[in-house]
Amino acid sequence: MHLTFVVILCLSHLSQMRANSQIVYKSTNIECFPDPAFAVNSTCRIRAVNWNKAVAQMDCDLITPLANTSVQIEVFKKSDNNRYQPFLVNVTVNMCDVISKRNFIPYGTMFWKILKKHTNVNHSCPIMPGHLIARNLYIDKNILPRFPLAFYQIYLKVIENYADRPSRTAGVIKFYVQAREMSTDPTIVYKLKNIECIANPKRVENISCFIKAINWNKAVAQMDCDLILPLRNTSIEIAVLKKNYNNQYHPFLINVTFNACDMLSSRKYLPYAPIVRKVMKIYTNVNHTCPITVKSS
Ligand SMILES: *[C@@H]1O[C@H](CO)[C@@H](O)[C@H](O)[C@H]1NC(C)=O
Ligand SMILES: *[C@@H]1O[C@H](CO)[C@@H](O)[C@H](O)[C@H]1NC(C)=O
Ligand SMILES: *[C@@H]1O[C@H](CO)[C@@H](O)[C@H](O)[C@H]1NC(C)=O
Ligand SMILES: *[C@@H]1O[C@H](CO)[C@@H](O)[C@H](O)[C@H]1NC(C)=O
Ligand SMILES: *[C@@H]1O[C@H](CO)[C@@H](O)[C@H](O)[C@H]1NC(C)=O
Ligand SMILES: *[C@@H]1O[C@H](CO)[C@@H](O)[C@H](O)[C@H]1NC(C)=O
Ligand SMILES: *[C@@H]1O[C@H](CO)[C@@H](O)[C@H](O)[C@H]1NC(C)=O
Ligand SMILES: *[C@@H]1O[C@H](CO)[C@@H](O)[C@H](O)[C@H]1NC(C)=O
Repeated sequence: MHLTFVVILCLSHLSQMRANSQIVYKSTNIECFPDPAFAVNSTCRIRAVNWNKAVAQMDCDLITPLANTSVQIEVFKKSDNNRYQPFLVNVTVNMCDVISKRNFIPYGTMFWKILKKHTNVNHSCPIMPGHLIARNLYIDKNILPRFPLAFYQIYLKVIENYADRPSRTAGVIKFYVQAREMSTDPTIVYKLKNIECIANPKRVENISCFIKAINWNKAVAQMDCDLILPLRNTSIEIAVLKKNYNNQYHPFLINVTFNACDMLSSRKYLPYAPIVRKVMKIYTNVNHTCPITVKSS
């Protein structure tokens, strides 16, 4: 057996991030402060669904009807020193007017879309005493305009208006959300790090092997050599070694030897052979059956 060639390829895999930066509004917390003159037995909590999503579940028993109800929507953005500062939005919307389409205030319409989808307050006023629920409530990124990436508190004050007396606060909900980039399922890439080619000088000359970086995720190998003697019945050993925490390479799962000529002529269907054949067909001029002759290089 003549050793012709040893190629050492170093790969590393990266998790590909920021492929497309979609925003998500992830619920982080919720607090409910109903006025007991309006609602009792309230529970409010957040349930995590996955890395990008958490939903609010809310329950309460309404004891006083809501017939002409406004919601003050105020948004606060968490600053660098961890304090919530007023952020752009501070509107008061008569929700009964929005629901009955007497009013089309943008934030009111957004709020109504969420109510309609996730609560049983999905009808026109009045809202009669009974059990009110919100299930799997979250802020759909398609409903809200794109906010800067940050933590927010959405402050909702529910106000009942009367014609003959001052309005009253029925309750306050503080909904905390994080506007963040959606993390997609990390896609794996194998990035070439280095290549070394070691040849038997009696069989191979003029070797050059190098890696060229293309971008953050990709680098490619360029290899050249002049074959002195033809290759007629050639085997390839493929072994994979994995770098461990103390920076040493240890055998890792794969160590196979197969006849490359059988592989190139598809006479044998060995594991890994199709991968090697595909790579050689696409990227090299060793894209034909054996022998690999001297003149074609
Ligand atoms: C509040 O919860 C208690 C215990 O479940 C129940 O007996 C009561 O009827 C509830 N209040 C209202 C207004 O539904
Ligand atoms: C938001 O508007 C309300 C009513 O106009 C006002 O009372 C409140 O102070 C405002 N909030 C901020 C943070 O300016
Ligand atoms: C309102 O919500 C309740 C409970 O989720 C549902 O049964 C009902 O069909 C909804 N009504 C409308 C008009 O969407
Ligand atoms: C309903 O609320 C509005 C404020 O949004 C107020 O101007 C109006 O007088 C109220 N109407 C009744 C019938 O209570
Ligand atoms: C190696 O390169 C030299 C210089 O370009 C050339 O003369 C020689 O023929 C090459 N060797 C082979 C085997 O082709
Ligand atoms: C792979 O297997 C061959 C034959 O069994 C052995 O000689 C060689 O050392 C192995 N390679 C590695 C990297 O473990
Ligand atoms: C080719 O190599 C294989 C080992 O992979 C060996 O069994 C076979 O005898 C060789 N054939 C010839 C014609 O040299
Ligand atoms: C093999 O590769 C060479 C050089 O890239 C190319 O010219 C030739 O067409 C390829 N042959 C086959 C059969 O793919």
